Amino acid sequence: MNDPETNSPVEEMTDNSSQSVTLEGRSLILVKRRDEFFLFENNCPHTRETLDPLGGSLSDDSGDLIHCQRHGAEFLVQTGECVGGPCMGESLTPVAFTIAAGQIYLD
Ligand code: FES
Repeated sequence: MNDPETNSPVEEMTDNSSQSVTLEGRSLILVKRRDEFFLFENNCPHTRETLDPLGGSLSDDSGDLIHCQRHGAEFLVQTGECVGGPCMGESLTPVAFTIAAGQIYLD
C-alpha cells in the first residue's frame, strides 16, 4: 500500500496537462487528458533520462501528445508510443495505477 502523504492530488490537475510525481520511490509522469489519467515512467526511451528537466507540463494543447523537453520526442498519451522525434517507434513505459478518493495508488 502506498503512503497517501506521498501521493499527488489528482483533482487539482487541469485538463490536458501533465506533472511529475514520485510514488514508491519511482519518478513518474501523470497525464490528464479529457478527464482521463495516464501514468508513465519518467524515462525517455531516447536517452533514458527524465522527460522534464525544465519542469512544468509536457502536454500539448490537444492533450493527445506529450513532448520530451530534451530533444522534442512526441508520445501518444493513450499508449506512450513515440510518434515523432529521435525515438520513433519506441515507447514510454506505462504504469498501472488506481485512483481512489483523489489519490493515486500503484497497482
Ligand atoms: S531524451 Fe527525450 S527526446 Fe532525447
